[in-house]
Amino acid sequence: MSKISVISGKSSEDLARKLSRRIKANLVKSEVKVFPDGESKITLSGKISKRRSIVVQSIYPPVDTNLIQTLSLISKAKEISSEVIAVIPYMGYARQDREFLPGEIITMKVLAKLFKGVGASKIIAVDIHSIMSLKHFTIKSKNVTAIPDLVKYFKKLSLKNPLVVSPDQGGKDRAKEFAKKFESEYIALEKKRDKKTGKVQIKTKNSDKVAGRDLILVDDMISTGGSIIKATQFLKKQKCKRVYVACTHALLINNAEKKIRKAGVTRIISANTIPGKTSVVDVSDTIAKAIV
Ligand code: R5P
Repeated sequence: MSKISVISGKSSEDLARKLSRRIKANLVKSEVKVFPDGESKITLSGKISKRRSIVVQSIYPPVDTNLIQTLSLISKAKEISSEVIAVIPYMGYARQDREFLPGEIITMKVLAKLFKGVGASKIIAVDIHSIMSLKHFTIKSKNVTAIPDLVKYFKKLSLKNPLVVSPDQGGKDRAKEFAKKFESEYIALEKKRDKKTGKVQIKTKNSDKVAGRDLILVDDMISTGGSIIKATQFLKKQKCKRVYVACTHALLINNAEKKIRKAGVTRIISANTIPGKTSVVDVSDTIAKAIV
């Protein structure tokens, strides 16, 4: 038997299988039954290594169900393996990394305690929404990025004079990194929210760069699609050509994909941190390199 086991959570089966092949680990599969009251019952099949286990499970919706399943898998792995690494390709709750308003609970801090409590000795996440989140962990933690894998995919497409665009200033560094590897220019839009009406306004000082070009909107995640839709509508008014979206985590909640396409996006390309139609970019090699 291999000295390493990859324990596949139900939310990350494809990625876990690919990772196990890459690192030549024994794959342990899980069968999950969710009862009508919401409880999860997990049954594992396969032998868990005494030396090292790697649990792979993304925490996307239903977030709390996937979270308890992740913790259960780590806990079981720790009963057998002396070392348990938790690979969380999409880390839910990472947007709750600080107290934005007085009284708010920093749920990421709770997760950090839970992961340690059940026996994980290291956490690996992919493009975690906020690096601040990892500061709450007292075990080893590492964030890896899917950008090089996304860029590799985009290099195979024939785009016309492409321009990389961040939908907001917060994503500027991400767009810059993408553009550097893609060898193109980039811009970051400015998103302003009216404090009274809540209305979002988009602008840019670089409108002149957009017309006639194919664009790649780069973001870490698409949740409801609101940010991408607003940016696309704005960019279409600036007479761009096609709009592509490159993102790591495509949650695509509430029919977001359909709405995004309706706004004029030609194609969404995302990583397999969350399985789905758009998740064509494999990050198993990037994760494998982070497991040392
Ligand atoms: C914002 O800071 C993030 O990078 C994403 O742009 C955002 O979370 C996406 O959410 P939605 O798709 O709901 O606009």
